[in-house]
Amino acid sequence: MNILLFGKGGQVGWELQRSLSVLGTVTALDFDSTDHCGDFSNPAGVAETVRALRPDVIVNAAAHTAVDKAESEADFARTLNATTPGAIAQEAAKLGAWLVHYSTDYVFDGSGSRPWVETDAPAPLSVYGRTKLEGEQLIAQSGAKHLILRTSWVYAARGGNFAKTMLRLAQERERLTVIDDQWGAPTGADLLADVTAHAIRHLQKHPEDAGLYHLVAAGETNWNEYAKFVLATAAKHPVGEKIVAKEVAPVPTSAFPTPAVRPHNSRLDTSKLRSTFGLTLPHWQAGVARMLTEIL
Ligand SMILES: NC(=O)c1ccc[n+]([C@@H]2O[C@H](COP(=O)([O-])OP(=O)(O)OC[C@H]3O[C@@H](n4cnc5c(N)ncnc54)[C@H](OP(=O)(O)O)[C@@H]3O)[C@@H](O)[C@H]2O)c1
Repeated sequence: MNILLFGKGGQVGWELQRSLSVLGTVTALDFDSTDHCGDFSNPAGVAETVRALRPDVIVNAAAHTAVDKAESEADFARTLNATTPGAIAQEAAKLGAWLVHYSTDYVFDGSGSRPWVETDAPAPLSVYGRTKLEGEQLIAQSGAKHLILRTSWVYAARGGNFAKTMLRLAQERERLTVIDDQWGAPTGADLLADVTAHAIRHLQKHPEDAGLYHLVAAGETNWNEYAKFVLATAAKHPVGEKIVAKEVAPVPTSAFPTPAVRPHNSRLDTSKLRSTFGLTLPHWQAGVARMLTEIL
């Protein structure tokens, strides 16, 4: 199987390089790759890459993920999150290739407290959410065989992440303030990559299972509880002795105004994915604890 991976340097892209390697030959590209164009600001160049490499499966982990910045560069975000994925999908349809793509809980307006299911009506609140939804729609309309995985609150051991920020602040301040009114599930890039590889294998035998799925770790939390879990776990490691924070105070989202509006309810229902692909999704705390063990 020939696999073409876009966005190899991102959180999910990095883990996909590992998880996809057992399925076949992987050509992994980033925005500055020189052999073939992997720059999503150039839809025609990326389409040409697909035509030249003729992959069996395309996995797209590239995106404009700077949610606040997207508010002031909507055209650029649209090119990266919608136009170029749409162009890839057109080429995939012509080739008969599979396209695997990632989307987000930000396609929803965050109302209520029930976990969102795939058939719920999207109503994005931000440029990021709107452009990611447009990307989903262009892929679905292209006629390409596709798998779209909506996820939330992605973290990885590599690079910066929320847990690392909390650990740093907890060594500098006695009191942290962290919002407690946005709910969701922190989801590891490693989990997303492993499920992607499993799903690709499944789809080779069951192409009828193509489509849109929600994929997040099990359980739910808010950012305040997430921070407390990070600090409690860190306390069991040597770094715990350096933590001076005594309180993680809950505050509403309104305490930290940001250019992009974020959904309060980011819970995603994963029943469809678990039953279709026969998978168990681990609790978010297991993945975060593992990531912390790796970085501490
Ligand atoms: N992060 C989250 O919390 C989250 C939540 C829900 C859904 N998702 C979705 O999950 C997928 C993977 O996200 P992630 O967390 O792995 O994000 P990420 O770490 O920001 O990775 C995105 C990748 O896209 C690359 N990129 C940026 N501009 C590009 C361009 N012009 N051409 C090609 N590549 C470009 C980035 O490169 P640079 O790093 O060099 O800019 C990065 O390698 C995305 O579809 C995202 O929308 C993420």
